[in-house]
Amino acid sequence: MSNRYAVILAAGQGTRMKSKLYKVLHPVCGKPMVQHVVDQIEKLNIQEIVSIIGHGAEKVQAQLGEQSKYVLQEQQLGTAHAVKQAKEILNGKEGITIVICGDTPLITSETLEALFKQHVELSAKATILTAKVDDPTGYGRIIRNKAGLVEKIVEHKDATEAERAINEINTGTFCFDNKALFASLDLVSNDNVQGEYYLPDVIEILKKQGEVVTAFLTDEFEETLGINDRVALAEAEKIMRNRINVNHMKKGVTIVDPSNTYIDADVSIGQDTIIYPGTLLKGNTVIGEDCHIGPNTEITDCHVGNATVIRQSVALKSTIGSHVNIGPFAHIRPESSIHDKVKIGNFVEIKKAVLDDGSKASHLSYIGDAEVGKNVNIGCGTITVNYDGKNKFLTKIEDDAFIGCNSNLIAPVTIGKGSYVAAGSTITENVPGDALSIARARQVNKENYVQKLNQKK
Ligand code: UD1
Ligand code: MG
Repeated sequence: MSNRYAVILAAGQGTRMKSKLYKVLHPVCGKPMVQHVVDQIEKLNIQEIVSIIGHGAEKVQAQLGEQSKYVLQEQQLGTAHAVKQAKEILNGKEGITIVICGDTPLITSETLEALFKQHVELSAKATILTAKVDDPTGYGRIIRNKAGLVEKIVEHKDATEAERAINEINTGTFCFDNKALFASLDLVSNDNVQGEYYLPDVIEILKKQGEVVTAFLTDEFEETLGINDRVALAEAEKIMRNRINVNHMKKGVTIVDPSNTYIDADVSIGQDTIIYPGTLLKGNTVIGEDCHIGPNTEITDCHVGNATVIRQSVALKSTIGSHVNIGPFAHIRPESSIHDKVKIGNFVEIKKAVLDDGSKASHLSYIGDAEVGKNVNIGCGTITVNYDGKNKFLTKIEDDAFIGCNSNLIAPVTIGKGSYVAAGSTITENVPGDALSIARARQVNKENYVQKLNQKK
């Protein structure tokens, strides 16, 4: 197999997005579009991936990290000018270079592999990935001669009425013979409506030199959607979302209402888990088998074990074990670790806390900066008082402790193993193991008080 290289165009500002965020960093199903492209490219056995960066260069670089090499295009003078920047890395190399835009997040490695295959089989110097679309507005059009052979590409803005009627478009992805590509880039001019150096002009240049130039017409138009504005972004999101959901369903996950379920690209879900409507699974979330998630639940960057139920709740950057029951209406905040068989009930907020196996906080509690042992019962309305306005302090509750309802545990404090805290206590000092601690005023009943009050009036 010949050497393969890739050039990813990601220097543009993306003016049509009307955004402070650079176009190729806009997420589609939680992942920046350029990252989608690079992740697909990586599957193709490529020797060298070169990203052309400009607007937001550091941010694009920070996103892709070591997956790519980078070349700066200081001024965005067009797609041909952009590719030319890769010369310092790729010039003179023997092999095939795929050029792809960072704004086509739906492309798959299967389609790109098919493009490579045709390119090699037809011994072409250039192969354009093309698609037929209902509305070609904005895209470059593929101009073929009477024999049906590709002649050139004309950009929408430069096209005549007759050319605009053509519905076969340039998807922006090409395979080139690497040496022929860099030789012809020097010949591209900017004599066009936009005053830009167009990469598609390389096609006509090679053709005029008598080289073999072909098109690979894919019937997967959806994959080639180029995102230039927010309308296309929403369209891509919808297509990607459906693709992700179908993929999970094929692997044995039940999604009750796929049109109302939002799963990011890198989420994984175990078999026989059921996802109810209104659920968002984001980031690098991993969900085990036999779980029930949702309805109306948002889980971000969490690791969830097996057979866990999470209803109407929010969880962020935490680990949640197996056979756990969360919600409805619970909030698990970052750095929490909820072990197996724990129950977190309604209106309970957990922050940076460990709850060991079998512990329960069933109603109306705040548990923050805490280490809770095994089989602890945290009564309704219990609060760990972790903050003095400046610093945060730790609450430790050892195994088998029972915290009565509506208790305040003023940290730093330790509640010993097996001890009881009486309901309504405000605990400021450590409670020894097996003790009963009562920290509240004794009840006084003033008999017949109301009668005395009435006599005074
Ligand atoms: C481009 C193609 C068009 C094709 C369409 C497919 C050209 C001239 N036109 O148009 O034929 O139908 O894609 O989506 O190539 N970029 C740079 N540096 C630059 C200019 C652009 O890196 O100087 C990058 C952009 O960040 C973007 C990509 O190249 O990722 C394409 O640029 P864009 O402005 O979106 O081109 P289109 O108008 O969509
Ligand atoms: Mg574009």
